[in-house]
This record gives sequence, structure tokens and C-alpha cells, in this order.
Amino acid sequence: MTEAPPRAGAEFGHATRPRLSIARGEGAHLYSADGRRYVDLGATHGAGSLGAVPPAVVRAIQEQAATLIHLGSGYESPVRTAFLERLLGLLPPSFARIFLSNSGTEAVEAAVKIARSATGRPKVVATRRGFHGRTLGSLSATWRKELREPFEPLVPEFVHVSYNDPAELEAAVDERTALLLLEPVQGEGGVHVGTPEFLRAARAACDRAGALLGFDEVQTGLGRTGRLFAFEHSGVVPDLLMLAKSLAGGVPIGATVTTAEVEARFRGSHHSTFGGNPLACAAGLAALDTFVREHLAERAARLGAVAGPVLAGLPVEKVREVRGLGLMWGIELRDRAAPVLATMEADGYLAINAGATVIRLLPPLVVEESDWLGGLAALTRAVAHG
Ligand SMILES: Cc1ncc(COP(=O)(O)O)c(C=O)c1O
Repeated sequence: MTEAPPRAGAEFGHATRPRLSIARGEGAHLYSADGRRYVDLGATHGAGSLGAVPPAVVRAIQEQAATLIHLGSGYESPVRTAFLERLLGLLPPSFARIFLSNSGTEAVEAAVKIARSATGRPKVVATRRGFHGRTLGSLSATWRKELREPFEPLVPEFVHVSYNDPAELEAAVDERTALLLLEPVQGEGGVHVGTPEFLRAARAACDRAGALLGFDEVQTGLGRTGRLFAFEHSGVVPDLLMLAKSLAGGVPIGATVTTAEVEARFRGSHHSTFGGNPLACAAGLAALDTFVREHLAERAARLGAVAGPVLAGLPVEKVREVRGLGLMWGIELRDRAAPVLATMEADGYLAINAGATVIRLLPPLVVEESDWLGGLAALTRAVAHG
């Protein structure tokens, strides 16, 4: 029997829209199947912070693949132990335990389960415009109605409060609250930067009510905002920290980091077959070394500071607001983002949206300054044209 040829549109959920096909990459450059070069300003959705094929990660994957690809979590593996210790070494000393999974949404699911179990409470307070993933628990914390409604009823006892409104948050976090879950900078919701006052109020409300504070740093983590972890900007340390995306240099991984005290209160079990597999841990170890060795958080801060004045100069008749930190920017237009993105793509720059009217820039932290400036210039041209 001859095999059927691959069909365009065979992937679930993507059949209606023709998409650019990317065949390979190098650094912040992505190449289409017909060889055209593009600059990645967000095409890897923040998971490609180290670029398309980070050499140290490639080497680590190659070596680990030839050594041991998979091992269940019932066994110790030297590379997993080394990765866990390396990650903890980059975090404040209160953090002592890590649950490893395969994606951002799983990192959030684990946090919700840990918080409910450890506190014996049902309620989760999340934020309007927040995004935490698409499996049912994470989706229950996600705000956007069109993402939630087709799948209702979702998990009960999730409520949403306004982002950057300390009073509303303080009123919502009570003695029934297990977890207050938020992004220190909201990403998918349009790039909104949490104020230090709001984040400090979040910590205080949790301490007062005996709830756990969870920061979803799936998008902001690992240097993106100009600090290795976005919570460092405010100094507010959560009880649960969720990481994924760029943590293993583009290899699927999720991590839920917590304290020994929280673990001691946890009842029940949580597990993942592939979570913490040696291949992802080897990639993660090489990725963490690269973030630190190449000072990529500092680089994000420096390139972000270059972007600020350029983006502030965009015409007010086209742009409602510009928000961002490090190499994470949202440009809220007065009109739809799609035509501007299409013009940028035709110009060789791949940016993404965050909702209908926000252009989002999430370039690899290794982007060459000339490509970054080129991207800002392409955006400026596309906004003027669109
Ligand atoms: C803040 C945040 N949390 C969770 C997720 C879900 O991550 P994943 O797509 O890996 O499940 C995302 C994805 O964009 C995210 O930005």
C-alpha cells in the first residue's frame, strides 16, 4: 500500500488559514522553505529566547540523545539532578522544590493542584486579561471569553480581578482562597506591566489570608523582561513560580517551583511520564548556562531601552499605547493588528499579535542589534502604511 502524501491543513485547528512555512533557523533568523530570510520578532512565541538553534543546547541534546533519552521519574538521573540544582541556584533561597512537566499549561495545572491540596481550600483568584494556558484548569484561570466559553463548564471556584487594582485584589483574596495566580507582566493579554504596588499588595493579601501567591512566568521568565525573573523588578517573591517556553532553549519543558513548606503540606500525588526526561533536562541545563554566561537578561534590558524611544515616537493617530519591559513589547493600535503584521512579514519581519489590536514583539534575546533596530523601523513603516 502506498502512503498518502501529507495534506496541507491536516493539523487540527489550523485548517482555515494559510500560514508561512518555516523550514530552518539560525540565531534570530528563520528561513522559509523557499529560502527567504525573516527576522524573528515573536515567531517562536517567546520559547526561542536563545535563538533557533542555540549551539550549546544543540550539543547537549545530541550528547544526551546518544546517552539516555527517557527515564521515568521513579529513578534518579544525573542530568535531571544537575538541572534542578542549577535552576534552584538562580532563585531566591526560599525555593527548594521543583515539579517538572512539558509545557506552560502543565506548569500552571501543577501549581493549582499543589495550592488546593496544600491549603485545603478551593478558590483561585486570577486576573482579567490573564492567560495561563488551555487545558481545563489553566483555562479556568485564563480570562478571554472566546477561549473559555466553548468548553464550559470549567473548573469551579475561579474568579478574576482587575489587573493593577490592589483594592479589588485585596477584597477577593479571602480565607477560602488557595491561590492568587498572576503574570508579573501580562503577555497574551496585551503586554501589561504589573506595578510594584500591585505585586506587593498581592503578596500582602496572600500573607493576610493564608493563601499561596503564584507567579506565572512562562512568558516573562529567563531574562525576557531585563531580569532573569520578572519578579526581581518588584522584589516580591511568590510561593509558586511557573516557568516553561524558553527554559530548555526551545525543547518542551515546564517547571513549577515552590518551597519546602508548601511541599510538606501537599497531599495526594502529581506526576508526568515525560516531565523531567533526560533530554529536556540536558537542554535545560545548557540553556540556563547560556542565559547566565551570555548575560542575556542584561542584553534584553539594553536592547529594550533602545526600543523605548523609537516606539514612543509612533504616530498617536495610529497608536493608542505602547507598553513593555526588556524585550517584551505591546503596541496597542487604534485599528486591527493583522494588516500591520502582514506588511511586516512582507518586509521580512515576523511579529505576533496579542488580541485583535496589539502587536507583540518577543524577539530572541540574542537578536543582533541591527536586526532589532531593523524590526523597529519595519514596524514604524508598517504602522504608517496600515
Ligand atoms: C503566561 C503564560 N502561561 C501559560 C502559557 C501556556 O503555555 P503552553 O503554551 O506551553 O502550554 C502561556 C503561553 O503562551 C503563557 O504566556
